[in-house]
Amino acid sequence: MIVVGIESSCDETSVAFVDSERQILSNVIHSQIATHAEYGGVVPEIAAREHLEKIRIVFDEAIAKAEIGLSEIDAVAATCGPGLIGGLIVGSSFAKGLAVALSKPFLPINHLFGHALTPRLSNADLEFPYLLLLASGGHCFIAEILSQSNARLLGSTIDDSAGECLDKVAKMLGLGYPGGPAVERMATFGNELAYNFPTPLSSQKNCNFSFSGLKTSVLYKIKESEEPNDKMRSDICASLQNAIARSLLDRLKNAIPLISHRTRSLAFAGGVSANKYINQRIAEFASNHGLKFYNSPTKLCTDNGAMIAWCGIEQFTEESALDFEPRPRWPIG
Ligand code: KG4
Ligand code: ZN
Repeated sequence: MIVVGIESSCDETSVAFVDSERQILSNVIHSQIATHAEYGGVVPEIAAREHLEKIRIVFDEAIAKAEIGLSEIDAVAATCGPGLIGGLIVGSSFAKGLAVALSKPFLPINHLFGHALTPRLSNADLEFPYLLLLASGGHCFIAEILSQSNARLLGSTIDDSAGECLDKVAKMLGLGYPGGPAVERMATFGNELAYNFPTPLSSQKNCNFSFSGLKTSVLYKIKESEEPNDKMRSDICASLQNAIARSLLDRLKNAIPLISHRTRSLAFAGGVSANKYINQRIAEFASNHGLKFYNSPTKLCTDNGAMIAWCGIEQFTEESALDFEPRPRWPIG
């Protein structure tokens, strides 16, 4: 089976073709980073217009790279939420039109399930149920993934996400947007013990996250000094990665007593899982708790069409949900 996946919930317009043997035939991503960089974050109205401008071009490139014909498509999957409504309308409307033209099912995909199931696209041996840590720009939560469409949410952020924290600190340090990769590069030369940034909520025995206090604490540190030099920037970035990792681990620790004895694996997904340092810390945690660790290559950590196509394969049904309306909010579990 070949499913086309369309992603447009934030600032990536992406179309991918994936088959049920886990082969990614193509995964074309048009990033709007350059467009939004001057604003230091995504501007929803501009994002929607750019999705509209690019979606057909990205689709044509993806089908050409996949070297298949339209008649070989078995279903059309598109992100229908959560996300920025303008982009969701563009992607899902394009997908519905395509599904009608091909007489194939339209599959509305929850972006969070897309991230959640991606470690199964990258690793054929990852079985349900598994513990999932998702850390991205828009989301940060821990859930037990019970099946391809059923999850139990164990905790989520009460304010910012980990990715947002990285993006905002990068902006404060003048490192540009998106912040995650820039912080990671800068941190390579820094001392992770230089600053002891706080681990919010650590006294609470739950799986919720909070990152806004961490961001503020970095802001105070920057304000205390003169214009930060490269050494200080590197130390801040390394110490920030350390604090984020500590926070993620502290919350994961509280998830362990809550999961079923059948849950033997921990998967790490979302844009922040592209970070090598944080990834390594989570992998160590998994090993210390007797869980097998799973992640994905960088291109599949951040938003992409392949994760949506794969989710369409996992959730495939002949029923075409043409009346499904995009949802800005669509919680998992
Ligand atoms: O999953 P994603 O592409 O979009 C959302 O669904 O939000 O995640 C984007 C987030 C951004 O905050 C970005 O700074 C962060 O993932 N990110 C990283 C890295 N690459 C992207 N964070 C840390 N290290 C990275 N290498
Ligand atoms: Zn995402």
